[in-house]
Amino acid sequence: MATTESNKPDWAALEHRYYQGTFKRQPITLVRGEGTRVWDSDGKVYLDFVAGIAVNVLGHCHPAIVKAVQQQVTQLVHVSNLYYSTRQIELAELLGIQSQGMRSFFSNSGAEANEGAMKLARKYGRLHRNGAYEVISMENSFHGRTLATTAATGQASYQATWVPLPDGFKQVPFNDLQAVKTATSAKTVAILVEGVQGEGGIWLASKEFMQGLRQWCDEQNLVLICDEIQAGMGRTGKFFSWEYYNVRPDIVTMAKGLAGGVPIGAMLTDPRTDVFAYGDHGTTFGGNPLACAAGIATIRTILEENLLENATQMGEYWRSKLEALCAKYSFIDSPRGRGLMNAVNVKHSLASIIVQQALAHGLLLNSTAPDILRMIPPLILTRGDIDEAAELLDRTLADVAAMPVAQI
Ligand SMILES: Cc1ncc(COP(=O)(O)O)c(C=O)c1O
Repeated sequence: MATTESNKPDWAALEHRYYQGTFKRQPITLVRGEGTRVWDSDGKVYLDFVAGIAVNVLGHCHPAIVKAVQQQVTQLVHVSNLYYSTRQIELAELLGIQSQGMRSFFSNSGAEANEGAMKLARKYGRLHRNGAYEVISMENSFHGRTLATTAATGQASYQATWVPLPDGFKQVPFNDLQAVKTATSAKTVAILVEGVQGEGGIWLASKEFMQGLRQWCDEQNLVLICDEIQAGMGRTGKFFSWEYYNVRPDIVTMAKGLAGGVPIGAMLTDPRTDVFAYGDHGTTFGGNPLACAAGIATIRTILEENLLENATQMGEYWRSKLEALCAKYSFIDSPRGRGLMNAVNVKHSLASIIVQQALAHGLLLNSTAPDILRMIPPLILTRGDIDEAAELLDRTLADVAAMPVAQI
């Protein structure tokens, strides 16, 4: 086994030997978590403003999730979808209540949930729109890494290597209703949109745009799909980000925070588009008892601990800190976001340098692009956590400000 000078396992060298090289990892190995903190293999503690990329909505090892998983693992882990399963039905019921009447289909990831949504839309097109199959999605969006979700993702950098991509996808500028209308043809069946673009750098859909999309879909008999994979589960301060717009999509996709860290995805549909029949779709693992038990605990805790309200209030407080830091340091600007989904722009492509420097100060941050710093902490965040994070970020930015690269 590869070891370091201090005779500990050299995890970076071992990863390089045994794991495919698709990830650019930060130079720490995380081994333990509790609440808003994680610890690395050297015992150093970090305040976590990444939360497993918007996954750990209840923070790390929340007692409710620990208890639910521990209980479930001694009862039933997996049975397949050949049988009824109590946890699956209970989680679907909770989502049915939150969505006011949608029915669920569970998968294992966000990309899979979006694949299901696009299949469902195509079935709708076959039944109700003369075989229409095309999906219009937004520039700068992100919908996953499978071939179809790569085709739906509106960022050329994710697509270039994989052409030819599946047919039936078109992108238009985000928040441009006229562009959507112009792009719509007899082939179009669905419009796919994030209420807040996440990987794209935390950009909010406008109310006019979302309401306009709803109206356009109604007029043209199109399916409105809202990708809530990052913005859902209370991250923006509402259970679903589309609740801000007073619109209701036909299909909703979820994943990330849905089971607080246990892998799961979900595709929800309104009765209008609930057209899957026996055999149309399936999955081996999707919605298994273990993942669903964690999902039930996560949703109940969000509601019982009033975490939607907390995300709203802590989001406002965090943005006030970001505004102050943007006023202090000339190389960051445009603080923005909703709830606990926030970002700032960074000049001179300094985002990854800031992320690394923050690591040294014990703060986990994430950059979605060389010029964007994203913060997506757990929804259990406190004012004390925010004060501490602002202090750590201030020290980080002071270090970066002293570097020649920030003084261009
Ligand atoms: C909005 C959105 N959709 C889809 C996905 C893909 O989810 P997954 O990585 O679970 O497949 C992501 C992941 O970042 C996302 O942010």
